Amino acid sequence: MKITEVAKKLETTTRTIRFYEEKGLIAPEKASNGYRIYTEEDVRDLRTILALREVGLSTKEIKKALEQNDDFTDYLHTQRSLLYEEMLQIRDMVATVDRIVDMIGKAGKEEQMTNMARELKGLKEKRTSWRDRWNFDDQAKDYDDNIKTTGYRFNVHEHYDEALKMAHAWVNASPGERGVDIGAGTGNLSGLFLRQGLPMIAVDQSKEMLKVCAEKHPQAETRLGHFLSLPLNDKEADFVVSSYALHHLTDEDKDLALAEFDRILGDHGRVVIADLMFRDESDRKSVLESYQESGNEEAVEAIEDEYYADRSRLIRWWEDHGYDVEAHQFNPILHLLYAEKRERGTSNE
Ligand SMILES: C[S@@+](CC[C@H](N)C(=O)[O-])C[C@H]1O[C@@H](n2cnc3c(N)ncnc32)[C@H](O)[C@@H]1O
Repeated sequence: MKITEVAKKLETTTRTIRFYEEKGLIAPEKASNGYRIYTEEDVRDLRTILALREVGLSTKEIKKALEQNDDFTDYLHTQRSLLYEEMLQIRDMVATVDRIVDMIGKAGKEEQMTNMARELKGLKEKRTSWRDRWNFDDQAKDYDDNIKTTGYRFNVHEHYDEALKMAHAWVNASPGERGVDIGAGTGNLSGLFLRQGLPMIAVDQSKEMLKVCAEKHPQAETRLGHFLSLPLNDKEADFVVSSYALHHLTDEDKDLALAEFDRILGDHGRVVIADLMFRDESDRKSVLESYQESGNEEAVEAIEDEYYADRSRLIRWWEDHGYDVEAHQFNPILHLLYAEKRERGTSNE
């Protein structure tokens, strides 16, 4: 096929096709008269290139994937995660514009505008600045074996199976409900719901964890993404679960994560979290003191390296946002929290 025919077929321009050729994404053969001849395979590649450019993949990424005969899965997962991040940032900006418009003509508006802009900047930074300093990609292959290992002086996985089972039971999902497991890791909690035949989306920031999850649970849908910009639409889930993951976020980030759970949950949505936390700040102090007194340095270091939640703060957030909450404690550091959205307009009094 000649370039003009290809352009017509793909509803593009000859200039665009030449551009991808110059960039090395396609390499059509030249006939003896100097014209390029496009094979069916070239046309197929061009179709792919045009579609992927439209969703924002760079020519560099597309070239690399085509050269490696890659099916683009990795690139598309990353792109989806980035697009959700951008979408949420744009929403935050629109909400700020709305607030500024409401301020027009009011006294002291300049100072309030400055505050709103500062808040917006802070939110932007929060949504984008979380970094994995524990290197979960490297932990993925051995994760399931490691959590079974015993003999540690400080075993954070004591009561692990029990906590996951109880999280599953507390959700009490009905057939057809859609669940999301955030910080899903290798999918141990997702698996309990999948076994029940429920559709589950496993979200994690670690590609390697998601690979292991997909191998163990081919029925799960895996999505790359993070707590602070979840790769899901509003009200897409009936329930959200999360185990052993939230304690990688600071308290302030946890508030934003709970707001993200709230965004993706439908009416009457439920959240169940099994995680490392303390009942409140005074409990944190006394548990830490007891580890210090018994010389358990391992425990003190592990706790200080992460952000074990203040359970009372999480509960307060939910109560302030119209949820009923229940809690259970397995041991000094492991708790289970259940939060359910009340019907709009009802109070818990
Ligand atoms: C200790 S593992 C727990 C995995 C699994 N939920 C379980 O119970 O075995 C923590 C998981 O949370 C994920 N994670 C930590 N912080 C995250 C974040 N900000 N966004 C998404 N995933 C996160 C990590 O990548 C890791 O897979």
